[in-house]
Amino acid sequence: MINFGDGGVAVVTGAAGGIGLGMTRAAAARGMAVMMTDADGERLAESAQSLSDAGHHIAQRVVDVTDPTALVALARETVDEFGRVDLLCNNAGITLVTPINEITLEDWHRVIDIDLNAVFYGVRAFLPIMLEQGFGHLNATASANAWRSDPMQAPYNAAKHGVAALMESVALDLREMQSTVTASVLNPGPIATDLMLRSLGEDDEIRTEVHGLLNAGMDPDKAGRIAIDGIVEGRFWIFTHPLIFGTIRDRLDAATTDGSLPPELDWPWEELFASS
Ligand SMILES: NC(=O)c1ccc[n+]([C@@H]2O[C@H](COP(=O)([O-])OP(=O)(O)OC[C@H]3O[C@@H](n4cnc5c(N)ncnc54)[C@H](O)[C@@H]3O)[C@@H](O)[C@H]2O)c1
Repeated sequence: MINFGDGGVAVVTGAAGGIGLGMTRAAAARGMAVMMTDADGERLAESAQSLSDAGHHIAQRVVDVTDPTALVALARETVDEFGRVDLLCNNAGITLVTPINEITLEDWHRVIDIDLNAVFYGVRAFLPIMLEQGFGHLNATASANAWRSDPMQAPYNAAKHGVAALMESVALDLREMQSTVTASVLNPGPIATDLMLRSLGEDDEIRTEVHGLLNAGMDPDKAGRIAIDGIVEGRFWIFTHPLIFGTIRDRLDAATTDGSLPPELDWPWEELFASS
């Protein structure tokens, strides 16, 4: 169990909306002060204002997570503002839904930079402070796509598998060092956010279809509560939708029996949405 409680300080990237805003609300509801950050300054200001108006202890910074120097500055400013940092949620992300033969170099780098490299930049910026404090927790938002891949999402699948491996490496190294700093990974299933609307790529038909599916997903505030509860309970792997475990097992079974590709995903959409 981690006891953040009153006086605890969280930093959330991608906090202007969606799951990041859900995590911010859940942390604030536990009495934590939250440094909200996002690249979208307008939405960030609106969301931060509504939480401040509700009496929560909130600060905000416009930060592009692909800028390692800006993340180092954010870590320093958080400590200047609140005196400590207990929790970093590396959550900002984008996606791209495009067949492999149509992905441009630019799009590949953009997704890997925001979804994977930026998680390392966050760890790199905040871990030294946490080690010095002798406490702190590093969380990152991966995905169900860290555990199996969806067609037409190559850079997203690769980045999210990478996030899970990176955060597992962070946790293993911290354990090896017998550190009191800890780590965890959030693996959301479908959550009703605007992720698809902000995706790269131009195919409006696919984008609209996937946005429709996500929109029927879990309330991002519920996902945020599951994330913060999971961290407090000391879980390393945190899942929003245990129903996806079947697809993960199918992949592992195929890999370890005849070495074949996993069966085509036959998502139990109705059950998934009923569990949202
Ligand atoms: N929605 C889902 O179904 C789902 C499922 C699995 C994983 N995820 C992951 O959850 C995380 C949050 O996504 P969401 O669904 O809440 O989507 P969202 O689009 O609502 O939120 C993502 C936020 O990240 C911000 N952002 C994008 N690029 C940035 C950058 N370079 N620097 C700083 N901020 C940036 C956006 O402005 C946005 O506010 C992402 O990592 C996403 O991959 C989402």
